[in-house]
Amino acid sequence: MMPAASVPIITIDGPSSSGKGTIARAVARALDWHLLDSGALYRLVALAGQGRGANPDDIDAHVMLARAMRVEFLTDSAGYERVLLEGQDVTGAVRSEQAGQGASRVAVWPALRDALVERQRAFAAPPGLVADGRDMGTVIFPAAELKVFLTASADERATRRHKQLISKGSAANLADLSREIAERDHRDTSRAVAPLKPASDAVMLDSTGLSIQQVVARVLALGRERGLWQVG
Ligand code: C5P
Repeated sequence: MMPAASVPIITIDGPSSSGKGTIARAVARALDWHLLDSGALYRLVALAGQGRGANPDDIDAHVMLARAMRVEFLTDSAGYERVLLEGQDVTGAVRSEQAGQGASRVAVWPALRDALVERQRAFAAPPGLVADGRDMGTVIFPAAELKVFLTASADERATRRHKQLISKGSAANLADLSREIAERDHRDTSRAVAPLKPASDAVMLDSTGLSIQQVVARVLALGRERGLWQVG
């Protein structure tokens, strides 16, 4: 089922650590629209598999989990976002490098990607949706009114991720991070199904050297130009 035509959608795709998540969240907040963090769904499948002790190469087991897992994206009473998997709080675990690596492994399986399609489309609801990932504009929401492909140089992405981890008190090595980002980019761009690539009608936005506010302002300006919402 395709999303209702009346729901405006902004897709933000791009490579690891390009800032998609931060930008998508800020745009969704500014507009008071729904947010789909599609990477979290792949991460949750990987976590669910680990939790069940599934063999990391067992496609069927992971496809079943992708269909059946119960996930909730909530905002707690203090205003913090929480991710629940089968009722358990996995907010921290879902952002770990381990979950990210696991996600990028399961994401190469076509059956697994198919199993997540309807779950992702179900996020499209009034007044609008901002969806971030790798194939939001190409596969999941091909009719989205605004598609952004967000990039930044590999060095800048590794540096941003490094700063983010250090600020969370995690040990991080810049060289290791650069290597992991390069590996993940390679896996995401070279897979046979839904490889990371801009939709033909995507707007390319290079955020190297730009602040979060500047990138958000640019996305909002594009949405406004396209009349995605009523200017009050
Ligand atoms: O964006 P995030 O880092 O959370 O994504 C984790 C992994 O999930 C990515 O490296 C990618 O392999 C996979 N992914 C995907 N398609 C999406 C979102 C994420 O293949 N739409």
